[in-house]
Amino acid sequence: MTSSLTRRSLLVAASMTAAHVAASRSGLAQAAAGPDSATIEILPSESIGTIAPEIYSHFIEQLGGVVYDGVWVGEKSKIPNENGIRLDFIKAMRAVQAPVLRWPGGCFADSYDWRDGLGVPDKRPNRAAFWGQQESNRYGLHEFMATCRSIGCKPYLAGDVRSLSAKDFYQFVEYCNAPAGMLPSHSSAPAAPDTLALERAANGDREPFNVDFWGVGNEAWGCGGNQTPEEYAGEFRRYSAWLPKYGADALKLIAVGPNGDDVDWTRRLFKSLAANPEKRNLWGLSVHYYTSGSPLHFPGGDALDFDTKSYYDLLTRGSIMERVITDHYGAIQEFGGQNKVKLVVDEWGAWYGKGTQLGPDYNLSQQSTMRDALLSGITLDIFHRHADKVAMANVAQSINCIHSLMLAREDKFCVTPTFHVFQMYLPHRGATSLRTVFQAQPIENPLAGSAIPVGGNSTAGALQAERTLAGLSGSASINGKSVTLSVVNPHHDRPINTEVTIRGTQIASASGMVLASHDVHDHNDFEHPETVRPAPIVPVRISNGRLIHIFPPASVTTLLIELA
Ligand code: AHR
Repeated sequence: MTSSLTRRSLLVAASMTAAHVAASRSGLAQAAAGPDSATIEILPSESIGTIAPEIYSHFIEQLGGVVYDGVWVGEKSKIPNENGIRLDFIKAMRAVQAPVLRWPGGCFADSYDWRDGLGVPDKRPNRAAFWGQQESNRYGLHEFMATCRSIGCKPYLAGDVRSLSAKDFYQFVEYCNAPAGMLPSHSSAPAAPDTLALERAANGDREPFNVDFWGVGNEAWGCGGNQTPEEYAGEFRRYSAWLPKYGADALKLIAVGPNGDDVDWTRRLFKSLAANPEKRNLWGLSVHYYTSGSPLHFPGGDALDFDTKSYYDLLTRGSIMERVITDHYGAIQEFGGQNKVKLVVDEWGAWYGKGTQLGPDYNLSQQSTMRDALLSGITLDIFHRHADKVAMANVAQSINCIHSLMLAREDKFCVTPTFHVFQMYLPHRGATSLRTVFQAQPIENPLAGSAIPVGGNSTAGALQAERTLAGLSGSASINGKSVTLSVVNPHHDRPINTEVTIRGTQIASASGMVLASHDVHDHNDFEHPETVRPAPIVPVRISNGRLIHIFPPASVTTLLIELA
């Protein structure tokens, strides 16, 4: 590993406690924001909106080792499984209370016929699929629905708008959602059961899947057909013009949005959709924003081999997510808000070049370090700060791909530092996001001004890296008398001594968890699954109704605060 980051001394929770107490005694914590100190003020009277639990959603597709091996091991496997689904995957998804799972893609969805994955497994077709793999179709719609049931999450399906017809799309909806069996004769619905509902029952699921979330295609500007916004707007009209509706709730349709910060796409799409009479079904605009690593040795950078400059640059460019959200939400508002359409950031994460794959067949798998945990914290905090604009977000992808929470290969399994951030942030979900003022000296991005291509299948050109990274960032939310504060200290070598106050009220008590490690390159692997894991903060110091805390270098912290 060629790194200019020195191994720093132990800075995890236990060792911080002594420094913490000493600093508090010296009064350092009360200092205004200097290089080593900061203040955080939470404003309970300034609510931003409810943090949708769906911001913590997930994504899997037939790509490398995501579905085959990561999720699906088969009923006859020696690897512990529930109906063929890897048990460790189910348990981890339950542990982070995954609310929604997106499938089948991603680019895979753009050439996937949902009918191929139905019926007797041995008779399913073997097809050439998007990512250069042969698709056996062993894992199909019913297996995906079983996965969602095992996890206890909602499904989010994407229809193939590039290569299938509008008829295939509405029959996909019908197959999933048509009611089961014979309906009572007094019902206004037809007396005979729906033919596709009967087919679904014959394939093992009598009851409807009741899928609410539907992606009308994926990345129409790229693998979804290299379309212009105007062309895609026409497709969106056709595919959404008549969709079977069951029950009272409207389907939640998600239109293909920009690649990164391509606002031109969003403006032109919404201009074209303005006259669309079916726009009432448009619930969300999909946004894909990946952060690629700086190319120290390879395009896209390396997940493990990075220097201090690349470290700060990645986190700075990850913070561009804030601009992406405000730009695109703003663009939607230019067209009257289109019936309160919100953003669905259904692909996000750090996407590095090749180098740390789990094996040759594990395309786009990569290791995940403390740096990625910090990016996760920064990103989730941005979503909270824009709880009024973001309705859902899906990390790409849950297992064995890009910014994963889990890594699995055959009988080996471990969780990444990002998994721990998702778990630590659970108390924010469903709470009310509060405006919070962080005062900390910003960090100069050493690679500012260098144009780094947007990660993934970018067609949107390059993004200029920002000049500075917030020296301390985070978000706060309130639920009754409990406030959750999450804080990311991105300095790789500097603890930040901080005073936390809540305007108009006093802090009675607090507890906390911290994720920090000896080195920002630290990560978990199959041999060392617990190198990075959170630790409780004992004690959390309260003084005169204020919280005094030292945030360790390169750490993610959550504080659960009880108000007086
Ligand atoms: O997540 C990997 C790929 O990135 C997805 O399939 C595609 O939508 C995006 O380009």
